[in-house]
Amino acid sequence: MSPNVLGVAGSLRHDSWNRRLLGALAELAGDDLRLTVYDGLEQIPLFNEDAEEPTPPGVRQLREAVRGADGLLIATPEYNQSMPGVLKNAIDWLSRTEPVLEAKPVAVIGATVGNWGTRLAQAAVRQALTATGAFVMPQPMLFVARANERFDPSGRLHDAEVSSGLRKVAQAFRQWMVTHR
Ligand SMILES: Cc1cc2nc3c(=O)[nH]c(=O)nc-3n(C[C@H](O)[C@H](O)[C@H](O)COP(=O)(O)O)c2cc1C
Repeated sequence: MSPNVLGVAGSLRHDSWNRRLLGALAELAGDDLRLTVYDGLEQIPLFNEDAEEPTPPGVRQLREAVRGADGLLIATPEYNQSMPGVLKNAIDWLSRTEPVLEAKPVAVIGATVGNWGTRLAQAAVRQALTATGAFVMPQPMLFVARANERFDPSGRLHDAEVSSGLRKVAQAFRQWMVTHR
């Protein structure tokens, strides 16, 4: 059976390119994986060590979704040459109390309207995930630059290069989840 993967876009924006990228991957992955895109990131409060117990409902929901998934696929925007605060905040919550990221297979991709494809944001995400004990897939990497040119006005991906990159990520991640479960 296809592995069950949770997709998280590090953006709260309604028309997020990164959420669209996850949607495209869900369609292109075929039997390689079943991707469910998480839509509750805005329910997660700012992390505060004084407010970890009881676990806020939004955090509990995300934690359970990660725990129940065979793998986690993060699509990150780049903000000021790093990952957005909402994504770092979620990773910080997930690293606490119950270590659901420990030994969890994770893949990282990202899209930006800029020219460098979220290279620095992805490096920051990988660094933080390494601290949590997640099994971060090293390759293939996918850096989607000028995302606004790669989707049609309805939000559907129409770029052969990015489509091919997404298929490669899906295939490699399937294998990564087999060897790192
Ligand atoms: C505060 C802020 C900082 C940004 N900094 C960068 C950056 O350093 N590099 C980059 O490529 N894009 C940068 N961008 C552009 C974002 O990558 C772009 O808005 C992208 O579409 C956000 O992803 P989303 O569409 O998934 O929300 C920045 C955008 C914002 C709002």
